[in-house]
Amino acid sequence: MKFNEFGKTGLRVSEIGFGGSRIGGVFADRNSSREALNVLRKALDSGITFYDTADMYSQGESESLIGKAFHGRREQVIIATKGGYCLPARRNLIKRIKPLIRPIVQALGLKRARLPGGMSGALSQDFSPSYLTKALEASLKRLQTDYIDLYQLHSPGVPFMQSDAFGEALQTLEKLKTQGKLRFYGIGTEVPEEAPFCLSAPGISSVQLGFGLLDLQALDHGTLADAAARGVAVIARGCFGGGLLKASLDEAQLKAATPKWQRILALRSLSSSMGRSVLDVAFQFCRGTPAVSVTLLGMRLEDHLRDNLRYLEAPPLNAGEYAALRQL
Ligand SMILES: NC(=O)c1ccc[n+]([C@@H]2O[C@H](COP(=O)([O-])OP(=O)(O)OC[C@H]3O[C@@H](n4cnc5c(N)ncnc54)[C@H](OP(=O)(O)O)[C@@H]3O)[C@@H](O)[C@H]2O)c1
Repeated sequence: MKFNEFGKTGLRVSEIGFGGSRIGGVFADRNSSREALNVLRKALDSGITFYDTADMYSQGESESLIGKAFHGRREQVIIATKGGYCLPARRNLIKRIKPLIRPIVQALGLKRARLPGGMSGALSQDFSPSYLTKALEASLKRLQTDYIDLYQLHSPGVPFMQSDAFGEALQTLEKLKTQGKLRFYGIGTEVPEEAPFCLSAPGISSVQLGFGLLDLQALDHGTLADAAARGVAVIARGCFGGGLLKASLDEAQLKAATPKWQRILALRSLSSSMGRSVLDVAFQFCRGTPAVSVTLLGMRLEDHLRDNLRYLEAPPLNAGEYAALRQL
């Protein structure tokens, strides 16, 4: 495993980070908790030290699984979590009755995208000092730890970052840092326009943004260069396009799923001319971009981990290959 500097924090992080948004939850198989614990532990045994989660992933179950998996090995991992989204009442109810509804969801074969709208409830956000403090305490409990390595504001959005409340949120994080409840703090973004506001925020150590072969804006717009110049660590997510780069999707499925389908087909043919799979090339592209400290891969299954470790062993792109992908 190669380890990278994490901005100016002095932390060194594995170049692959475990994306924890898809572990746990009502849509997971019956054995999924066992499988998730197994994958998490094997990931650490394989040298992956960076784990990204959020309090709202799987209504808190993602954090709980990470806490359980690394109980007794806390100092070996870097845990990055997020706060700021409030679980609406309906989702809170789902959280409490999850053991009861999971078998029903499975028996009916329901998938996340087919969840009746009324069941999910709209998400709201709260970055007030009292909410963030309470959310962080709850995360500490689920993660079975007394400190969080990296606490991220979860997609605060431009209007919030232009308001006075943003300053208050940052002061709260600074205070929690002084209390030793978090070591560093950063911001997770939803869209590229948010990144410049994050980078100019005082005290932040990292920015998490969408970056990869399906999303080159952070590179094209100079965000990555700006982050590097400021010593802010970049956490890249969406390396596999949230699953869109999977080889199993046929052309009709791609057309239905994304307006970027033609680009995906072009990436497939360019990767195959390099004698490599698209996922391998997608990972090599992120790891070959110097400003990226850690590339999150949204793992769920042992097969994902096995494949990702294989990509890690594969040779990096040469300059010509990187340029060809960049120009596509
Ligand atoms: N706003 C935010 O802060 C934010 C937003 C989104 C994500 N994130 C973070 O970023 C992480 C990555 O999320 P992402 O959705 O962008 O995921 P991604 O890594 O781009 O894609 C993950 C998906 O790719 C598919 N896949 C195929 N082969 C794989 C392999 N070898 N390894 C892993 N996945 C493989 C899987 O689909 P199948 O499961 O169908 O096989 C998986 O669900 C999340 O877990 C979360 O930690 C943060």
